[in-house]
Amino acid sequence: MGAFATGVTVVTTRLEGKPHGFTANSFTSLSLEPPLVLVCVDKKTTAHPMLTRSRIFAVNILAADQEEVSRKFADKAQEATRFDGLRTATGVTGAPLIEGSLAYADCRVVAVHDGGDHSIFVGLVEDLATWQDKPPLLFHKGRYRGLAP
Ligand SMILES: Cc1cc2nc3c(=O)[nH]c(=O)nc-3n(C[C@H](O)[C@H](O)[C@H](O)COP(=O)(O)O)c2cc1C
Repeated sequence: MGAFATGVTVVTTRLEGKPHGFTANSFTSLSLEPPLVLVCVDKKTTAHPMLTRSRIFAVNILAADQEEVSRKFADKAQEATRFDGLRTATGVTGAPLIEGSLAYADCRVVAVHDGGDHSIFVGLVEDLATWQDKPPLLFHKGRYRGLAP
């Protein structure tokens, strides 16, 4: 699957006031009418039970200069400090939005499908915007990449 090049996102949620986020490249645009997106979440993650209960998430699409953000939000050892030093806003659903990202989609969970050791969370997009026009962060064969000039 590493042969398939993707963008990189941080999927955030908030449960009982507590923000959480993790790096995800399984983000897919699913439907235009209604506007639906999906993300596949490992059942072993901290995020999985949080998303199941909060039923909200925001997808933050990372820029090429946010590789460190991606590494931090994928690192269990940094789970408690992932948001330290990051500028965030709060989306309409209450999910954190990471400033400096390219764009975000703020969603309410409308379906959860079983997918083996992952679950497929389908979100209805309640709000979305482009923060800025910068090159995207890419992931391919286990390495971070950028667009060629
Ligand atoms: C580039 C990249 C993409 C990833 N995509 C996903 C994904 O789509 N779904 C997933 O469950 N984990 C994905 N991960 C792994 C999670 O980011 C990692 O397990 C994280 O520590 C989970 O955080 P949590 O357990 O604190 O919620 C990805 C990691 C990287 C580096």
